[in-house]
Amino acid sequence: MKNESIIKLMERGSKILGSKYSILGGAMAWISEAHLVSTMSNAGIFGVLASGAMNGDMLKKEIELTQGKTSKNFGVNLIMMNPKLHDLIDICGETKISHIILAGGIPDNPLMEKIHSYGIQVLTFAPTLAVAKRLFKYGLDALILEGSEAGGHVGHVSTMILIQDILLNLREYPIFVAGGILRGEVVAALLQLGAVGCQLGTVFACCKESLAHANFKNALLAASGRNAVTPIQLDKKFPVAQVRALENVATVEFIIRQREMLAKFEKGDITLDEGRLSLEYFWAGALRRAVQDGDVEHGSLMSGQIVEIVKDERSIEDIVHLLLAEAESFLAQRIF
Ligand SMILES: Cc1cc2nc3c(=O)[nH]c(=O)nc-3n(C[C@H](O)[C@H](O)[C@H](O)COP(=O)(O)O)c2cc1C
Repeated sequence: MKNESIIKLMERGSKILGSKYSILGGAMAWISEAHLVSTMSNAGIFGVLASGAMNGDMLKKEIELTQGKTSKNFGVNLIMMNPKLHDLIDICGETKISHIILAGGIPDNPLMEKIHSYGIQVLTFAPTLAVAKRLFKYGLDALILEGSEAGGHVGHVSTMILIQDILLNLREYPIFVAGGILRGEVVAALLQLGAVGCQLGTVFACCKESLAHANFKNALLAASGRNAVTPIQLDKKFPVAQVRALENVATVEFIIRQREMLAKFEKGDITLDEGRLSLEYFWAGALRRAVQDGDVEHGSLMSGQIVEIVKDERSIEDIVHLLLAEAESFLAQRIF
């Protein structure tokens, strides 16, 4: 059978996702819509719809559109600070979604129980070993370890550190790894280290089926890893989420907006949460401007350091095909 060894190594992850290959196409706000997600799932990987700041009606429409294009499993990414979170979970339950991927916070037991009550599996991210252990105690179905090389909202620690701190200490639990992954050899090596699969994002933002504006894709394809930066946090008192994006006017505007929010916060005009939410709206608006309008200066070019080696606009099928071939040939080499 073709790619037999890598498919065998992926078995645990594929069973969890209900997909042929244990590769997730990570949710990307404004990019991971019905067309992209259904094409991913039809290609044998696991697509994830991004819900961003959607309300229930918008999400329901996008889910039904995706279901109309694929009979395969796909997930829905929900942002925990979305004020409509509980409504969105109900929509996922009513539309018989198989997996929810929670981002932007650490879920508690009641939230996971609510999702499980619909028969939906829960995946989420964890920044530390202690948090990862707690989440599995609550009944988390699988964890995604995402290193700071990734595109979009990121933690502070790189994939390599998370692998050693969390993956190698929790081998009995299902863990997917994300952040800076493209080549099949690396996917195979991570599976040999105990991961059940991997999540990729940036490469799919630039793929043929991505409906992102050509200016957005071309900016990413032309960039090098060092261009994908996380703008600084101005004051420890006012912690802001780290977002990795290509350096441009928007990354400077983020600093200006942060300074404004910090000043309002220090004067007592806004709470910390209000200030942080305003910065989240800034990023969401800026990403939309780049992805939909093609404004590559004032729009946000969220992308991971992997842009260093993402150089062509390939189809999802080609990306998956090459990744599997690289993984298989790596596994066939008997170096030791
Ligand atoms: C443009 C862009 C938007 C993203 N938006 C989201 C999002 O809405 N929710 C989420 O959980 N992750 C988001 N991510 C992270 C991806 O799902 C994925 O985990 C990450 O891109 C993997 O790392 P890589 O970029 O090195 O492949 C985004 C990433 C990018 C590049």
